[in-house]
Amino acid sequence: MTERDDLTLEEKASLTSGSGTWNTEGVRDVVRPLTLSDGPHGIRRQPKRDTDALGIHDSLPATCFPPAVGLGSSWDPELAFTIGAALAREASALGVDVVLGPGINIKRSPLCGRNFEYFSEDPHLTGVMGAAVVEGIQSRGVGACVKHFAVNNQETDRMRVSADVDERTLREIYLPAFEHIVRTARPYTVMCSYNRINGVYASQNRWLLTELLRGEWGFDGLVMSDWGAVNDRAAALEAGLDLEMPPTGTDDEIVAAVRDGRLPEEVLDTAVDRLLTLAGRVEAAERHEDWDADEHHELAREAARASAVLLKNDGVLPLDPDSPQRVAVIGELARTPRYQGNGSSHVVPTRLDDAWTALGDALASEPVFAAGYRLDGAPDDDLAAEAVRAAAGADVALVFLGLPDAAESEGFDRTTIDLPEPQVALLREVAAACPRVVVVLSNGGVVSVSEWEDAASAILEGWLLGQAGGSAIADLLLGVVSPSGRLTETIPRRLSDVPSHPHFPGSDGHVVYGEGRYVGYRHYDTFDRDVAYPFGHGLTYSRFEYSDLEARETGENEWTVEATVTNAGDRYAQEVAQLYVAFDEDRPTRPRRELRGFAKVGLEPGASSRVRFTLTARDIAYWSVSRHDWRVDPGRFAVEVGASSRDIRLRAELETPGDGHVGTLDGMSTLEEWLNHPIGAEVLGGLMTAGGRDFQQVDSVLFNLALGVPLIKFRTFGIGLTAEVVDELVETVRRRQAEASR
Ligand code: BGC
Repeated sequence: MTERDDLTLEEKASLTSGSGTWNTEGVRDVVRPLTLSDGPHGIRRQPKRDTDALGIHDSLPATCFPPAVGLGSSWDPELAFTIGAALAREASALGVDVVLGPGINIKRSPLCGRNFEYFSEDPHLTGVMGAAVVEGIQSRGVGACVKHFAVNNQETDRMRVSADVDERTLREIYLPAFEHIVRTARPYTVMCSYNRINGVYASQNRWLLTELLRGEWGFDGLVMSDWGAVNDRAAALEAGLDLEMPPTGTDDEIVAAVRDGRLPEEVLDTAVDRLLTLAGRVEAAERHEDWDADEHHELAREAARASAVLLKNDGVLPLDPDSPQRVAVIGELARTPRYQGNGSSHVVPTRLDDAWTALGDALASEPVFAAGYRLDGAPDDDLAAEAVRAAAGADVALVFLGLPDAAESEGFDRTTIDLPEPQVALLREVAAACPRVVVVLSNGGVVSVSEWEDAASAILEGWLLGQAGGSAIADLLLGVVSPSGRLTETIPRRLSDVPSHPHFPGSDGHVVYGEGRYVGYRHYDTFDRDVAYPFGHGLTYSRFEYSDLEARETGENEWTVEATVTNAGDRYAQEVAQLYVAFDEDRPTRPRRELRGFAKVGLEPGASSRVRFTLTARDIAYWSVSRHDWRVDPGRFAVEVGASSRDIRLRAELETPGDGHVGTLDGMSTLEEWLNHPIGAEVLGGLMTAGGRDFQQVDSVLFNLALGVPLIKFRTFGIGLTAEVVDELVETVRRRQAEASR
């Protein structure tokens, strides 16, 4: 007897769809309604139960932590865990059972309007950071919801578009972060995306929601729809989607479908059981009435400090707060910060810091301010002229530039990665008037820097840093802490260099993932393309040295890699040591290098730390489309440890025996495949030298030609290789393989 046995068919149907925008259905005393709220970087709890989906800006105040673009750049899973736990504390105080986040889609193009909600162009980094957030949220018993499953990498036509992506790219780029989180952090829920994947809606994709997610990865939680992603509720239930959000008022259809046998009742029962399991899980959550808003603001500040990335610095930073130098703070964004993106993740913050106030408070000699430009991007000569006058009287100008608020949002993509033209023009004029210019950027998606970076002595990429971003930026500029963020996505020289560019965002209902696995640095590094700033890059106010690489085999296809990182500068700072596996092929068949580990270490001047990584077969495997599984071929590869994908400091060569997999052969296997097969080569060997002729020696060109020919096709070559002989060969190989595996 389970709780479900108490439920009528109608009640069961009602549980598989929400009761309103933010709640699941409750049934008598069997199960209470659960409350779901966005997510991901703060709690967006709308004040009244069942408020509509449009009240985005009217939520109850909550801490606005740095969105994923910032938090990801911290490369700090411990910090991500702490923020997850803080989110859960606020969720609990606001009566929320499940936080709708983290968002872990891959940044395929810098144009994706929602990139600020995602961590990285790299699946490993995304998986590790996402898992830490999930573990943090669930450490207090609140549920996390990993979204948007899957291949939701653009906003254009997001509710219909088919992401057309090949199997290997899916497995190597778009699925691993979900897989890692599901396997290691065991999220209570997953949210399916709106889009189609190779023609099938995610919400109706049985392979995705059942075979892969549950069958292969062992997911034991609940799958909910993205808001409005269900098109055919019965088909969605059959595919493995347990909860439709928000409701479409179609419970009767589900009841009727069960009654007339179109939908097996077990399918409904399974979905109901998963909702009951979720309800049971969140019942164990810690209960809190409130949280310490100051403490969480401080945590948001710490996270923001860890998230900004110092791209360039000729030594102008850090500024000495006690120096008598005259500082001009230029740019409306210093006074009116952009600290989060638009759409469902929008949080009403508990407080809001701005850099202008924070700098004014900290600098001994009072700075001057000039707005310089309008926030909406429209030109304003008067504002620009005033800013240039301010810069002319200053020793250093801190110029805050960034994207207009309306440029980045859920629901649409950008069409350019350029800063607004008036801002670039202003920067040029300021640089002509003032010898030292520091640019601070505010943007959720990457902006191009190549056209103007020569005008800046230093550039601090401040992303969108949450409610304490303003004070955190002041802390970084003044050296209260050393910058420690690293790029989680490449900054290209120009938009047309981006590998997905010719395909993004598709047309006619389809977006073809034509660049395949060559996303971000996987493309730039493999094909030696110039970039403005590479993946993993970020400066500090100190210097780090790498030494003593040791790569040891610790088991079959298992290695430990260790290296020493030393702070060779004169102040405390943090370094992010990155481990890549590398394949140097003349003609690349896979990305040249891929991130497989990282460690953030904080070191006092002169201090060293040993970083250690483990590698397993999966880290060097590729997805075989013929085998539909991971595969390791025997051969050499390298491990590289460095400070970015373009700043490799240490390297060692290793060798793998492969995974020992021996494929099967049939008549359509080529001569080359036969000769590369241990048993096939032996069986065929006799024939190759039949009648005293060694075919390989007779004519090497002909032999090369023959290598690509399926064995059965030789029956027309008049060399005695008849269909019967081929059948016999195939049978012999099959028999010997069976014997060998006994
Ligand atoms: C978004 C989700 C969000 C949901 C609820 C959807 O439009 O794609 O990320 O959780 O709305 O607000």
